[in-house]
Amino acid sequence: MRPDFTVRDCSRLYFGASEELVRALLADQRVILVTDQQVDRLYADHLPELPRIVIAGGESHKTLQTVEMIHRQLIALGADRQTFLLAMGGGIVTDVAGFAASTFMRGIRFGFISTTLLGQVDASVGGKNGVNVDGYKNMCGTFTQPEFVIFDVTLLQTLPDREFRAGLAEVVKAAVIDDPYLFRLLEEHSFEQLRCDSLLLQEVVRRAVGVKVRIVERDEREAGDRRLLNLGHTPAHAIEKCSSVMNHGEAVAVGLALMAQVAYEMGLLTESDRNRIKQLLQQLGFVLEPPVSREELAQAASRDKKSAGEQIYLVLPCSIGACRVERWPKAQLAELLMP
Ligand SMILES: NC(=O)c1ccc[n+]([C@@H]2O[C@H](COP(=O)([O-])OP(=O)(O)OC[C@H]3O[C@@H](n4cnc5c(N)ncnc54)[C@H](O)[C@@H]3O)[C@@H](O)[C@H]2O)c1
Repeated sequence: MRPDFTVRDCSRLYFGASEELVRALLADQRVILVTDQQVDRLYADHLPELPRIVIAGGESHKTLQTVEMIHRQLIALGADRQTFLLAMGGGIVTDVAGFAASTFMRGIRFGFISTTLLGQVDASVGGKNGVNVDGYKNMCGTFTQPEFVIFDVTLLQTLPDREFRAGLAEVVKAAVIDDPYLFRLLEEHSFEQLRCDSLLLQEVVRRAVGVKVRIVERDEREAGDRRLLNLGHTPAHAIEKCSSVMNHGEAVAVGLALMAQVAYEMGLLTESDRNRIKQLLQQLGFVLEPPVSREELAQAASRDKKSAGEQIYLVLPCSIGACRVERWPKAQLAELLMP
């Protein structure tokens, strides 16, 4: 079976019906499924009868305790080095299960069925996995590519609107980084059309995944180009640190608008491209005003773990489809983020 994309020669990405793909990819293998309570409730009958480990959902359960629980259950289920761990869920399930598989018996084979839009266009691709430690995001983890990822956009129909929209922020991010065609496609369709038209959605997801794959091919471990994927994320993480009213995607949308404004003020981005970025985000239903003051935002952003000593990496859009990474003194961040 030909994959739609291959990442670093070892991870194969397939678009299509998940039941058929799982059957074809895992025939005659000993498989254990890891999922979360919500996905289990919705899709328990969707897959062949498999031994399963169900974790609690939510960022507060993305912890080493959950990984230990998975390891204990793998032992109880008689897992060995030949066992294949199939994770079905959003970014939390795939991050946790990918880490659990990478460390169980020093690493067993694993693959994903990604069930959220954010998971499909971002979390499931690229080989980063991990958990939070004492509330610090993704402090413990590995770079290990999943053997395969399945992208079945029909699974996204059951997502609440808010989760779906959160994923769209990462799609806009991908378009601004490296795909002007994807950006136009989004401009030409409403939120409702993207929600309801599976063929359109598949094209959108495929193009966003393509952006991530191209970047990870060049730089798996975030020593260079992979930093581009953090476009909008410095202000977004700061927003998430200071306030809980926005989810990650909503905060990324604010971050994208903010970085477009900063790039415009620096003379890197035209007024027209800045306006297109803001208009598209508004058309998709995002609020672009940060929920906290710019002072708080700048302070929290200067504590971002993506920083390098006294400097911080900032991703700045230069046009729709091209961005650049700059090191910026933390001390000047406040100035930059103030209107
Ligand atoms: N590894 C990476 O490169 C990477 C990249 C981006 C984000 N992430 C991580 O991804 C996580 C966020 O992922 P997420 O937004 O998918 O969150 P999530 O996994 O918590 O899923 C969101 C909610 O949707 C539910 N859900 C999942 N699939 C569903 C479906 N098909 N229908 C209905 N409900 C469904 C889940 O149970 C959950 O309640 C964060 O922890 C973030 O750090 C990782």
